[in-house]
Amino acid sequence: MNILAIETSCDETAVAVVRDGREVLSSVILSQAETHALYGGVVPEIAARSHLESMSPLTRKALADASLSADAIGAVAVTAAPGLIGALLVGVNYAKGLAMALKTPLVPVHHLRAHIAAAYLEFPKLAPPFIAVIVSGGHTQIVLVSGYTEFRVLGSTRDDAAGEALDKIARVLGLGYPGGAALSKLAERGDSGAFALPDCRVEGKGADMSFSGIKTAAINLLHKAEQGGKPLESADLAASFEKAVTDAIVSRTADAASGQASGLPVVLCGGVAANKRLRQTLRARFGERAYIPPPHLCGDNAAMVGAQGYFEYMAGNLAGWDLNGFANFPVDGEWEALCKGRERIG
Ligand code: KG4
Ligand code: ZN
Repeated sequence: MNILAIETSCDETAVAVVRDGREVLSSVILSQAETHALYGGVVPEIAARSHLESMSPLTRKALADASLSADAIGAVAVTAAPGLIGALLVGVNYAKGLAMALKTPLVPVHHLRAHIAAAYLEFPKLAPPFIAVIVSGGHTQIVLVSGYTEFRVLGSTRDDAAGEALDKIARVLGLGYPGGAALSKLAERGDSGAFALPDCRVEGKGADMSFSGIKTAAINLLHKAEQGGKPLESADLAASFEKAVTDAIVSRTADAASGQASGLPVVLCGGVAANKRLRQTLRARFGERAYIPPPHLCGDNAAMVGAQGYFEYMAGNLAGWDLNGFANFPVDGEWEALCKGRERIG
């Protein structure tokens, strides 16, 4: 079955066609990053307007790239949560119109479930159960994936997402927005042992983390050095910061995994999963158990939405005309509730 998938939860407009949840027939992504960089972060209103302008041309391109006519599409999948509400609603409403025109079912997809599903596209034999480490600009969570539509959170950040913290330090170092990748590049020529930074692991039960303390500590180091007239070596700070964040994520993943059946695969996903040090550290810790999709499947894209959309469709999670977008929705929340007892489209 061919699913046409739409992603507009943040600042990437993306459309893809995916066959049976595993094979990408086409995937187009239009990033608005350059526009938002002018403002130092995503401007929700601009994001929503840009999505609106790009939806139709991108959809036509995704179909053309897949060499399919519209009647070969069996369902339309769309990210319905979490994300910027105005941005989500553009995708959700476009998807409703498309499902009506094509007379297909409409499948709502959770953005973080989609990040996890990116791994199904790269590893055809990967199947639950496994542990997923979702590290993005908005979320940092360690999740037990016990079925394609069954999730349980084992650990989370209590405050900032890892990507958010990396972006913040990148910004104060003058690396622009979003600066995660630039920070990582700068870190390559720095000494990761140069600065002692706070531990990001939170004491107590579970595998929780906190990135706001380390963020403040790094900013304080920087300001103190500037005030003392001896600016510090920014590559060293970038490297120390990146190491502290990535070590904490991998160590908390090991803690979470130790409470589960032994030998479960560990999937790394989300935009920050493109980070070289994080990939290397997770691989070193988990060896063959580590499943890490290539960087182009880690950042926001619609192919991952098409992958998860297939499994939601198979589970009967279809939506109707009243589908809404939700800025917040837990990955292990009652997704089915969006789908029950509604008048179906298509
Ligand atoms: O998943 P994503 O594309 O969007 C959200 O759903 O948030 O993640 C974006 C995040 C940003 O914080 C960005 O700076 C970060 O991923 N990122 C990286 C790298 N590439 C993207 N962080 C560190 N190293 C990278 N190579
Ligand atoms: Zn994302």
